[in-house]
Amino acid sequence: MIKVVITGSNGLLGQTLLDLLIPDGKYQIHGFSRGPSRYPVDGFQYHTVDLSDKIQVDAALAAISPNFIINTAAMTHVDVCDSNREACDIINVQMVSWLVEYCKLSNAHLIHLSTDFVFDGKNGPYKETDTTNPISYYGLSKLRSEETILSSKINFTILRTILVYGLVRDMSRTNIVLWVLKSLKTGKPITVVHDQYRMPTNAKSLSEACKLAMEAKRNGIFHISSSRLMSVYQIAVTVAKTFGLNSDLISPISSLELNQPANRPPKTGFYIEKAVKELGFAPKTFEEELLEFKANYDDSTFNL
Ligand SMILES: NC(=O)c1ccc[n+]([C@@H]2O[C@H](COP(=O)([O-])OP(=O)(O)OC[C@H]3O[C@@H](n4cnc5c(N)ncnc54)[C@H](OP(=O)(O)O)[C@@H]3O)[C@@H](O)[C@H]2O)c1
Repeated sequence: MIKVVITGSNGLLGQTLLDLLIPDGKYQIHGFSRGPSRYPVDGFQYHTVDLSDKIQVDAALAAISPNFIINTAAMTHVDVCDSNREACDIINVQMVSWLVEYCKLSNAHLIHLSTDFVFDGKNGPYKETDTTNPISYYGLSKLRSEETILSSKINFTILRTILVYGLVRDMSRTNIVLWVLKSLKTGKPITVVHDQYRMPTNAKSLSEACKLAMEAKRNGIFHISSSRLMSVYQIAVTVAKTFGLNSDLISPISSLELNQPANRPPKTGFYIEKAVKELGFAPKTFEEELLEFKANYDDSTFNL
């Protein structure tokens, strides 16, 4: 059996990975997260691990000896990273260095999740080799984690991704698609930025990319997202239309007017050819992925 540790197994990508990997049957899966498991299904071993505590991380890894670590855990809220930099550094940077240390000793392969926020968003879409220049503390912390991995001699795959959405059994955070759905279904008007451009990523596709990365065991950075650049406003309107909801409730707003605490890159997006060629990733448009998402969507499992 291939032993896989998923850090952040309670999160959106973590739970989506459990959905994908458990039925496969060829993996012995271990989930690390805070508190009790939010994934109430057999087929994996859950470990309560505070990932900001090196002693707990080292002990949990040593007890398992994984072949792969998929590091989905992070402080992901961009504004919280900005206001709580010390805590952000511990989980987004230092914890990654502990995983790297472990991989050096054990020869385990690290699959690490990173972000489009390593770029300044002046010139998207971006290739893997384009110059990074984060404009938020979150982006800076994720870039530092990449640098720690790149300067090590371990086996690694860094998957950078963009605006991840999905629905899992027990959500702790909302995401763009669920926020729009919930607001419009309850008749609540929303304002959405029209001058930030992204290629949104279905957590299901991202989990498939993680599996492809385990199979390919190819070192390097790969960009993973849907295949067409859209404004966040267009994304919200597409959600409304796909679900037959009232798009008149959505009003465009500029980033300047919205005035979010931390800076956001205006226009990111990725060239994803490298992941297609080297990992076998099969990109889809947001519209295609949203139709698949709709086919599996169930209001009653939506606890936010
Ligand atoms: N979401 C996006 O739009 C997006 C975009 C680009 C890149 N990414 C990257 O993709 C990865 C996965 O994102 P996601 O959306 O799945 O994130 P998520 O839903 O926020 O999941 C992260 C998980 O990490 C856990 N975690 C954080 N600190 C921890 C600690 N000290 N000890 C134990 N567990 C801890 C969280 O636990 P709690 O649930 O207890 O908080 C959460 O379950 C991240 O590395 C992120 O940087 C995400």
